[in-house]
Amino acid sequence: MSEPRQILVTSALPYANGSIHLGHMVEYVQTDMWVRFQKHRGNQCIYVCADDAHGSAIMLRAEKEGITPEQLIANVQLEHSGDFADFLVEFDNFHSTHAEENRELSTQIYLRLRDAGHIATRSITQYFDPEKQMFLADRFIKGTCPKCGTEDQYGDNCEKCGATYAPTDLKNPKSAISGATPVLKDSQHFFFKLPDFQAMLQTWTRSGTLQDAVANKIAEWLDAGLQQWDISRDAPYFGFEIPDEPGKYFYVWLDAPIGYMASFKNLCARRPELDFDAFWGKDSTAELYHFIGKDIVNFHALFWPAMLEGAGYRKPTGINVHGYLTVNGQKMSKSRGTFIKARTYLDHLSPEYLRYYYAAKLGKGVDDLDLNLDDFVQKVNSDLVGKVVNIASRCAGFIHKGNAGVLVAGNAAPELTEAFLAATPGIAEAYEARDFARAMREIMGLADRANAWIADKAPWSLAKQEGKQDEVQAVCAVGINLFRQLIIFLKPVLPLLAADAEAFLNVAPLTWNDHASLLANHQLNAFQPLMTRIDPVKVQAMTDASKEDLTASQTDTGSAAPQGNGELAKDPLSAEIDFDAFAAVDLRVALILKAEAVEGADKLLRLTLDIGDEQRNVFSGIKSAYPNPAELEGRLTMMIANLKPRKMRFGISEGMVMAAGPGGEEIYLLSPDTGAKPGQRIK
Ligand code: MSP
Ligand code: ZN
Repeated sequence: MSEPRQILVTSALPYANGSIHLGHMVEYVQTDMWVRFQKHRGNQCIYVCADDAHGSAIMLRAEKEGITPEQLIANVQLEHSGDFADFLVEFDNFHSTHAEENRELSTQIYLRLRDAGHIATRSITQYFDPEKQMFLADRFIKGTCPKCGTEDQYGDNCEKCGATYAPTDLKNPKSAISGATPVLKDSQHFFFKLPDFQAMLQTWTRSGTLQDAVANKIAEWLDAGLQQWDISRDAPYFGFEIPDEPGKYFYVWLDAPIGYMASFKNLCARRPELDFDAFWGKDSTAELYHFIGKDIVNFHALFWPAMLEGAGYRKPTGINVHGYLTVNGQKMSKSRGTFIKARTYLDHLSPEYLRYYYAAKLGKGVDDLDLNLDDFVQKVNSDLVGKVVNIASRCAGFIHKGNAGVLVAGNAAPELTEAFLAATPGIAEAYEARDFARAMREIMGLADRANAWIADKAPWSLAKQEGKQDEVQAVCAVGINLFRQLIIFLKPVLPLLAADAEAFLNVAPLTWNDHASLLANHQLNAFQPLMTRIDPVKVQAMTDASKEDLTASQTDTGSAAPQGNGELAKDPLSAEIDFDAFAAVDLRVALILKAEAVEGADKLLRLTLDIGDEQRNVFSGIKSAYPNPAELEGRLTMMIANLKPRKMRFGISEGMVMAAGPGGEEIYLLSPDTGAKPGQRIK
């Protein structure tokens, strides 16, 4: 084994002015699964986060609630910590940006930047609320759109006609806080001289730190030329005062990422084996990853590395960007009941259902992902209950009844256990690359094979026959061992299921390396149902309850279009067809008899399919996702059987198999549930 790696991981710091919702959870679940995988593998992996507690929004909300900002952020921190814990997101530390460590580090970093000449000052003119005696950020100014005349539009863009403008262009401007007419006022601001770091950023952003789509977006910004960044706000503001500048505060986005360091520093005080400089010093050999959503890329891939460089700290190893969550194909919406708070979900459903669903949907790219609530129920029930847990529940009873719960030695399915072993490096690679969808696909493929093997041996019929008890025990021992392997692979995603399975298996907490051994002559504990099916009624109750949350004082941050880089968003839904058009399609279950590369075609596979009453030859452009086509043989998929045959350079294609995904490695052949037979029609 190689040396364990030292890894520090962060998720973006959630704003302390609202509740956590299922959109946020994409990020915290994604990060947590990756961190758990690293720990499972024996690496030193530290996961820190904090509440992002500063800014005028928090100041104003506290004022509205008649409490101090400190009280507000303390309440919210409790709420957030509870939500994360109940979603099994296991931080090593969850701190706050309004903390002493952060004040010290922010001050130090600012002074180092200033003393190195990277801070500029100049006066800017902004709207000022004469009643509240405060400067107004764009989103606190409302007025009439200068282009189309729609009233009640926010300070920088019109929702009606999409025009963007400066707040000073608005007609009849009003303060959204007091209703007063704002006046223009000058004030001295402090700027971080980002252009000083243009060359460093050009190199750093192209050095494997970013996903391609993100690096390309950043390249556009770099090519357009960087601007100085305004890092100060005038009092009244909830934040840290700038050293030597009374009445001036750090803009919340200046001290927010420093909050990553502060949270880690706070942890170091409790964990003497951790050394702050070993992780953050210029010569650190530890790895540092920030998991973030696509809306905050500029802060993490431009401002943050420049700040670190300018202040003499190390830069991140990677910025891992994910897309936005949609629910049922649309932006989360309060009126449709799809703006679901973490707590509302937890009131109705187990966290592991969502963790698994997110895992099954999360690739390594920045694509948005959809939580389709019907598909969620179907997929969790079919994969986790129908495939994984089913193996244990099918086999455990026979071992308890026929052999007092002792799992026998021997291996009645050497080829199958070999196949599980052979699949392990691929699953580990997929996890490492944050391609959770691929990892889940491979794991469920193994579960299918295990189920098929057990179904073929049919211990339930053997048990009824005279003299077959040894065979029953041999088959069920394989079943339980394969189940154990699947649990090892799934543990980063499903830690509770894994703990319950460990109790049933009567074993110490499983680690990744345990996959190499099998249980033999081993006493099992009584089998308890490990996971129940999702009842769709509960999902309905959750969306109903979310509609009732409508009165909650929270803003729609999760459903708002991300600012600036919405370009990374995905394409719209396709048009509707009527039922007759759908009914005319002959969709069938097909068994892949043969799958082979086509000479002279670099994208195509030639598939020989059994569709019950006949065989078909189909060419399919899925080779990039299945470089070893033979692994598809024996697998079921779905095909359109009445597509007009198409003459291709390599032969005639007699139909089409169904697959989904953006392309390249991410093409996923669809498959029916276990039990479907070739030739069956899809209704
Ligand atoms: N406070 C800042 C981050 C500071 S990091 C130094 C912030 N907070 S947030 O609460 O708005 O978002 C926290 C994280 O959740 C961000 O990475 C954001 O992209 C992510 N998400 C918020 N809504 C989301 C979805 N609807 N879908 C997926 N991720 C979402 O930004
Ligand atoms: Zn307009």
